[in-house]
Amino acid sequence: MPRLFIAIDLPDDVKAELGRLRVELPGVRWVPPSQLHLTLAFLGDVPGERLAGLTGRLAAIKASSFRLRLGGLGCFPHRRNPRVLWVGVEPEPLLVSLAQRVRDGLAECGIALEERPFAPHITLARIRQSAAGGCAPFLDRPGGMPAVTLAVGEFILYESRLSSGGAQHLPLARLRLVGGRGEGEGDNQMDTSR
Ligand code: 2AM
Repeated sequence: MPRLFIAIDLPDDVKAELGRLRVELPGVRWVPPSQLHLTLAFLGDVPGERLAGLTGRLAAIKASSFRLRLGGLGCFPHRRNPRVLWVGVEPEPLLVSLAQRVRDGLAECGIALEERPFAPHITLARIRQSAAGGCAPFLDRPGGMPAVTLAVGEFILYESRLSSGGAQHLPLARLRLVGGRGEGEGDNQMDTSR
């Protein structure tokens, strides 16, 4: 059964910028920059025969494209016991509404999600064995997070294939937002002025 999630992919220049936030920390596994994404919903294992219906339902979502501004570094669940290091996403009503519509669509398809509220973030690293206080060089990085904005014109249904070499993310369907531009049309913008 494919293991699915729905996410927003990031432009390559933003991935490269986020890759530069990497610091050497014991026990920390950094997500390869090419795989960085903003998760809208994690579906888990879904029977293959439900894929067509699911994709059709996602394609029926008519949501507007928008811009996002990234900012702020943090960790889940707690600084004393960090498991995930992330970069935050400034609250954008169109993002929150897209995530809600995706989740509503999944519910209509009978796919139950965790009930945790949507907390938009981009996971940069995962930590198996937490070293107390050991993430300060990341969390307290001098200068914090450079200001980065990006245009979001689509969201993607991914399959995550797990293997000993790490997860592989395969795009199964790209769902266009209204007013969204295609890839490589130059609407993404990085602002590193801060
Ligand atoms: P994250 O963005 O918070 O890290 C693919 O595995 C994506 O699904 C991950 O980036 C992860 O979100 C998200 N996800 C959410 N819940 C998950 C779970 N229980 N197991 C694996 N991935 C999960």
